[in-house]
Amino acid sequence: MIPPRPEPLAQPRLGLLWFTRVAHSWLDALTVKSYHMLLGQFRLPGMRVFVINDPAWVERMLITEPHNYPKHHLMHEALEPLLGSSPFTTNGPLWQRQRRMLDQAFGHARLGRVFGLMEQACDDMRARLHNGTLDVEGAMTHVTADIVYRTIFSNALMAHEADTLFGAFTRYQQLAQRVIFLRLLHLPRLWLNRSRQRQADIIRGFLAAKVRERFASRGVDEEAQGADILAGLRCAVDPQDGSHLSETEVLDQICMLFLAGHETSASALSWCLYLLAESPELQQTLCHEVDTTTQGGALQAGDVRKLVRLHALFREVLRLYPPVGYFPREAVADQDIRGSQVRRGDALLVFPWLLHRHRRFWSEPDAFEPGRFGPDSATDHPKGAYLPFGLGARACIGAGFAMQEAALILSTLLSHHRLLPEPGHTPRVVGRLTVRSANGIRVRLEPRQRVQPHD
Ligand code: HEM
Repeated sequence: MIPPRPEPLAQPRLGLLWFTRVAHSWLDALTVKSYHMLLGQFRLPGMRVFVINDPAWVERMLITEPHNYPKHHLMHEALEPLLGSSPFTTNGPLWQRQRRMLDQAFGHARLGRVFGLMEQACDDMRARLHNGTLDVEGAMTHVTADIVYRTIFSNALMAHEADTLFGAFTRYQQLAQRVIFLRLLHLPRLWLNRSRQRQADIIRGFLAAKVRERFASRGVDEEAQGADILAGLRCAVDPQDGSHLSETEVLDQICMLFLAGHETSASALSWCLYLLAESPELQQTLCHEVDTTTQGGALQAGDVRKLVRLHALFREVLRLYPPVGYFPREAVADQDIRGSQVRRGDALLVFPWLLHRHRRFWSEPDAFEPGRFGPDSATDHPKGAYLPFGLGARACIGAGFAMQEAALILSTLLSHHRLLPEPGHTPRVVGRLTVRSANGIRVRLEPRQRVQPHD
């Protein structure tokens, strides 16, 4: 089965009209050659950009020499109003300090500890679902935001709060993308900057109030008893100078975790549900795996790793629809990359979307085949050709978190519902901050009788 994907262009296009289209979806810029080449190059006004499609170079940039390929400063410009100073965009000693503190916070709020909070969010999701047509992206965004919110604050996210945050974030994404494109064209963007800041203020204002409340009501000693991520951040101590994170530093990390932690998972899970609805046999296999693992009861923390076929589905969906479709780095020195002269300051793009569908590294690259990640299959792709969570020192801190929540959400859904295609609906894939659908994702839900252990 070849699931929806944008048809690549036969030849690259130029001109303002095309550029405007790409501002809405970067996937529209990709050509047939993009999926074959090992290195690509194009020019933007005032900027040379290289597409690094060679897994060996990807490994060098991300694993062996990350200090020579820091995050591109445009990332910071795009996200700073919302995320403040946080690992998603920082580099050097500042990033090292933030990462040290985050690692401790995640160690404190261990996966097993936050399992119960994730489970409660899944129960609430179940209560919200009805049989009939499901707006998948809306439902997945709500439950993943609720999960990350609960694991940060130990409180549920109310429906009206969720609506306000999603609305502001959707507008922020659109505005941020436009600001960057105008910036690349050296055009004025004052009005857009102001609108973008207003959306950022809505989200940051909401989260700031929650953080302030905790700082006012609990000291660090009391936080040590807590199991959530906020408690972990407040207790984290920098081993280099013994300091704690300030309230502003904590807020920046929380904004980043809240957004990085739900938008990506919501994107991946939405594609999972669409593909499950289109694959009845696979769905049946997974229902069987869930039923036998849970013995008709609820999924336990220790069961998660037993769901090997569910993991294979998730990994294949992350291959076909990597939520972070590309990420930009910057060259710190002049150098030769595969025979091209790269200069200091040039942008280097690593494209999970292209690497995951590259004609040289995958058989049937556009086909949906979860079996390729199944328990009995051998890995035959280079390490640098599969990186939904990035690689090396700057790889995603939430990969284990995302895997656990995916197992919980999918097993909850499969235990109680049958997923069917919505007649006449095919999602149109678009590349924004994450890989989404321009016309939404819809499936139909029907009730499902669980198989009891004795059946
Ligand atoms: C399916 C879900 C997810 C995907 C596909 C994903 C993907 C990624 C990728 C590709 C990066 C590296 C970007 C780069 O190198 O430029 C990254 C970084 C990061 N992710 Fe995730 N992510 C997911 C879920 C999460 C969750 C649930 C959290 C937290 C709760 C999270 C927190 C972070 C953080 C903090 C970083 C920055 C790490 C650093 O630079 O030190 N992510 N993620």
